[in-house]
Amino acid sequence: MHAYRAALVGLFPEMAEAFFDVGVIGRAVREERLLVTHFNPRDHATDSRSTVDDRPFGGGPGMVMMVEPLRRAVREAQIAAPEGAPVVLLTPQGKRFDQGLAGDLARLPGLILVAGRYEGVDERFSASEVDLELSIGDYVISGGELAAFVVLDAVARLIPGVLGNPDSAIAESHVDGLLDHPHYTRPEIDGENRAPAVLLSGDHAAVAAWRRREALGRTWERRPGALLDRELSAVDRGLLRSYIGDNREHDIETLQ
Ligand code: ADE
Repeated sequence: MHAYRAALVGLFPEMAEAFFDVGVIGRAVREERLLVTHFNPRDHATDSRSTVDDRPFGGGPGMVMMVEPLRRAVREAQIAAPEGAPVVLLTPQGKRFDQGLAGDLARLPGLILVAGRYEGVDERFSASEVDLELSIGDYVISGGELAAFVVLDAVARLIPGVLGNPDSAIAESHVDGLLDHPHYTRPEIDGENRAPAVLLSGDHAAVAAWRRREALGRTWERRPGALLDRELSAVDRGLLRSYIGDNREHDIETLQ
């Protein structure tokens, strides 16, 4: 078994401790399916005060991360990284990360994730050392570390053996471009609300059809663009039509 090797380059390695300790990711680390190492640009500062940032040329607020400490930390990470591991910079200006990209990255032997802080990193670092810039969404957080964890979590779940039941990774939201169907567990009745009877019927084909219908319907309601991007089979179209029919009636009922 080859471990997936992730290197994290950032100023706050302590942020990772709790994150890589718990849940499926923690287990992947303990089982050595996922190997995470840290490289701190601060250890590669070139002055006695360990400076890693400086004021932006041209003025303006905040500080910019200097090229050289970042470059040296990435070079150190590359020595330990497997061949073919790309250098990925987390930045709000990056390509929007999604499930498809998580799958692409999971097929590689590993990756080097670089987390910026302050106003960002010197552009010459991105231009000379970075293979791919990724954003986790159109909002700004205080540093790239959380974004790196998000990316690594989504990737690690797709590494063979990380999820106890491999079907979980296939059935989840976004994997085939659809949102996940709703889930229910005991008790069967919660106040006024009963779990859908079909889920208790023992009829596996009916359960599968119901789940598919709900997944299509939810995607249609909540991510209409995602359905426009794909060709639906005749069966899926039928299920979606049935969902829309039922839920229109429901809307009318609630209006009256
Ligand atoms: N750093 C700050 N905000 C970010 C975002 N949305 N995605 C990736 N890195 C970030």
